Amino acid sequence: MPLNLAPLTADPEFAALATGLDLSCPISASDIAAIDAAMDCHAVLVFRGQPLGQAEQVAFAEQFGPLDLGLKRLKKQPERLEKAELMDISNLDLDGRPAARDSRKVVSNIANQLWHSDSSFQATPVKYSMLSAVRLTSWGGATEFADLRAAYDALDARMKAEIAALQAEHFALHSRFMLGDDDYTPEQRDQIPPVLWPLVRELPYGRSALFVGVHARAIQGLTLAEGRMLLMDLLEHVTQPRFVYAHEWQVGDLVIWDNRATVHRGRRYDMAEPRELRRTTTVDVQLAASRAA
Ligand code: OGA
Ligand code: MN
Repeated sequence: MPLNLAPLTADPEFAALATGLDLSCPISASDIAAIDAAMDCHAVLVFRGQPLGQAEQVAFAEQFGPLDLGLKRLKKQPERLEKAELMDISNLDLDGRPAARDSRKVVSNIANQLWHSDSSFQATPVKYSMLSAVRLTSWGGATEFADLRAAYDALDARMKAEIAALQAEHFALHSRFMLGDDDYTPEQRDQIPPVLWPLVRELPYGRSALFVGVHARAIQGLTLAEGRMLLMDLLEHVTQPRFVYAHEWQVGDLVIWDNRATVHRGRRYDMAEPRELRRTTTVDVQLAASRAA
């Protein structure tokens, strides 16, 4: 059966429910092309009833490009999951129990509750993230996605002109500092230097994205105060309910989003209950190559 799509939002060019494929075994080149085309249109695809094992999830993701490990590269800490390519999006410690409230694991979980685009703070650009739901809590814990393309389109002409040439500085630890987690050595602070992204990001399929999120901490050429206020204003614009799809998880869901075209955030849940999801994220090979050229 080929890929079948049904809209999940009022905007037919945002999140869609995808059916017709079994993601646990290798899919054909034409199915991969169909998913890529659907991602260019919808930016978020929801697959249900596809509980993937660790190796299956890695194998599925690798069909879309090399995998990125984000901050995990730096943390030389023991990992709970066997597969190094998987990011452990859980509140669990190494024994599989909910981690202490003041642990860094829980801080990074809470940082995921701030609107962001995965890994926008690093030099290696990323494309898709794929999140698989393993264990869920009794309340909360939805994940929300905001469409940066529709948000850009809705800006008035004056704002589009104002931001057309601006670049934002994204920094890995900015979200951590916001949450009071600032106990890092100078070496750790320098490990991931800030990177610049245009506020208006041209996507290869002809749309523009208003590329903001919590990792953006300043705007080049503006004072810190003016830049931060503009970033907060734009993020508020982007995250209006009319641009947002809220995903209520079921075990076995796999959600794919395009980090170039969306920001996302987790919602609060009971941190005393186990919540376990696993993420794979692909490198944006096309952009990386064009930068290297
Ligand atoms: C992520 C993320 C949010 C959530 O996995 O990148 O931000 O709801 N997750 O767990
Ligand atoms: Mn994320």
